Amino acid sequence: MRAVYYEEFGSADVLKTGNMPEPDLKPGQVLVRIAAAAVNPIDRRLRAGELSDFFQRQWPIIPGWDFSGRIVDRGDTDWSIGQDVVGLAFSWFLHGGTYAEYIAVDSTAIALKPENISFIEGAAVPLVSLTAWQALVEFSNLKSGQTVLVQAGAGGLGSVAISIAKHLGAYVYTTARAHNLDYVKSRGADFVIDYTTDNYVDVISDREPDGIDVVLESLTNEAAITAAIHLVKAGGAVPYMNNPPPDMAEIKAKNIKTEFLHNRPDGQILNEIMMLYAEKKLQIPQIETLALKDAAEAHRRSESGQTRGKIVLHIQDI
Ligand SMILES: NC(=O)c1ccc[n+]([C@@H]2O[C@H](COP(=O)([O-])OP(=O)(O)OC[C@H]3O[C@@H](n4cnc5c(N)ncnc54)[C@H](OP(=O)(O)O)[C@@H]3O)[C@@H](O)[C@H]2O)c1
Repeated sequence: MRAVYYEEFGSADVLKTGNMPEPDLKPGQVLVRIAAAAVNPIDRRLRAGELSDFFQRQWPIIPGWDFSGRIVDRGDTDWSIGQDVVGLAFSWFLHGGTYAEYIAVDSTAIALKPENISFIEGAAVPLVSLTAWQALVEFSNLKSGQTVLVQAGAGGLGSVAISIAKHLGAYVYTTARAHNLDYVKSRGADFVIDYTTDNYVDVISDREPDGIDVVLESLTNEAAITAAIHLVKAGGAVPYMNNPPPDMAEIKAKNIKTEFLHNRPDGQILNEIMMLYAEKKLQIPQIETLALKDAAEAHRRSESGQTRGKIVLHIQDI
């Protein structure tokens, strides 16, 4: 099958397009002919050799966890050949990812793709939507009338987190550069702070002297990691997306719920989320589509840290 893969760690230049064997089906898995795969920051971080202690690898490695496509082999599962699905093919074992024509994936990690969601849209949303849902709904228990800061609102995660927070009825603060202000507002953000001209901590502290309920912290710098704890009120929640919580006495003193959260495949929740997209209760993020052979360019754009919404690789028409 045609796939993008790498045989050594390095820059985006190590990505090659060529032929790789089709994946074998294990018990509990379905084989999906992939229409599209989204690019996530984790794909290029793993390609660069980061997080080596956490993952096992079998070379060569096909990157990618997000996908949409059609089931072509149902294995021993209750799924049917011909069903159109989306999914998060996450694994701690890296070898066969979704930048390829086929993926063998656990049947519990997929959900039906609604008919009014395209394959490109369907591929864009699983990882970021599950992450945002698990952080805001499951971990933080964000409720109507509460306040939340969604960092980096214009990114893939931020785009869907704003939409989910608004669906829950929360008041949403977000950070973005000037050229993304209209975009994040169009997704429902109530108050946008241009972090290049204003100090978001001061702005939010002035407006919310008692603190806010939740900070979805996806930035990696020390100042932001610490500020998130200062910003939440007693009993609030700070799900961190990239790091364990800082060692701060304030966490215990204010009874703040905080943890490093990693996205978890969950077909049932993904199914609920896809229904919300189908019913237009959640907004699909802005999407830029590139061809599979342009995966290296997609990684370079992701590395710029300035992409808006999602980049999706078109793999084949289905
Ligand atoms: N733990 C997990 O399971 C999990 C899951 C998904 C993502 N993540 C992590 O969460 C982070 C965001 O992921 P993503 O998919 O949204 O990445 P992304 O799509 O690459 O994010 C790019 C966006 O970040 C914004 N940005 C960059 N620096 C910023 C800053 N200092 N303040 C505010 N916004 C800033 C940019 O907007 P502007 O141009 O407006 O600055 C850009 O739109 C990544 O570090 C990723 O690894 C973790």
